[in-house]
Parts: sequence; structure tokens; C-alpha cells
Amino acid sequence: MALLEIRTYPDPVLRRIAKPVDDVNAQTIKLAEDMIETMRLSRGAGLAANQVGVPVRLIVLEEESDKKKRGDIGNKVIAIINPVIVGSEEEEIAEEGCLSLPKFYEYIKRARKISVKGMTIDKAPFEMQCDGHMARAFQHEIDHLNGVLFIDYLSPVKRNLFKKKYIKKDR
Ligand code: NI
Repeated sequence: MALLEIRTYPDPVLRRIAKPVDDVNAQTIKLAEDMIETMRLSRGAGLAANQVGVPVRLIVLEEESDKKKRGDIGNKVIAIINPVIVGSEEEEIAEEGCLSLPKFYEYIKRARKISVKGMTIDKAPFEMQCDGHMARAFQHEIDHLNGVLFIDYLSPVKRNLFKKKYIKKDR
């Protein structure tokens, strides 16, 4: 496995609309494994392929709601191809971060419960109903595949403040 470089804002690949994965080949599996490794070592809750510079519809997520334990060896992880949200219910505001926007956190409104479909890396149909942290992570990662970042949900005033601070900031 290899550690991949995580692209950060304003890298244009983060705005690309990712292409569907038609065939799970060795390259796709390798990409998923490397993304899992990269997510784990970065202590992220999830990662979308465009965040490592590959605009294809593949996401990886950690099934762990405890922030302190994120990235621990043994935590269950999933890799989903062509994920689609097929249902959503209720709304919830919670704090969000993103590995492509280091050190920036903001409260974002999302659906609290979702149903998601896709395919696993073993080519098995995938379907899940989830809520809370997991539902938020799916929405966040699927947004990445559509070139959307969570800062897009901020009010124009907050977004401008973000841009001023973030672009100048020495990271
Ligand atoms: Ni993100």
C-alpha cells in the first residue's frame, strides 16, 4: 500500500465531476486500498478519489463515530463505487471538516438519515440506511465526486471570509 498525496483547496481536481467506474480492475482495487491507508494515517472519516487526484466515483469511509479513535487499526472501513443517495430524511446541523481543507471547520446542515446505494470493491451490490455521523460522511464524500466542497454551503459572507483567511494563511 502507498500513501497518496491529498489535494487541498484550491486544487482544480476538487472541482472535477468524477467519472463512473465501469469496471473494477486491479488498478481500482489498488486505488481503494491506498485511499484507505491514506485516510487512516490522516485520521480522516472519509476520502473521495478526486481528493487524491483521480476523478472517478470511488469513496472510502470509516465506520467509526468516535473522533478520538479515528484511524485506529481494526476500525471497519468500506470502499464504495458509484455511490448514490436514494433517500433522505430530516435535517441536522453539525460541525464538519475535510482533509482537503485542513484546519477549517464549520457547521453545515445535512440530511440526518439517508439511504445510499452503490457497489462494493468486490462488485457486490451495496445498500445502506444510516444516520448521524455516517450519513453526514456519505453526503460529504458524494459531494466531492460532484466537485462540491462543504464551503459551498456557507453564506456568501462566510465564504468570502473563508477565502480571505484561507488563501493567505500559511499552512
Ligand atoms: Ni472532504
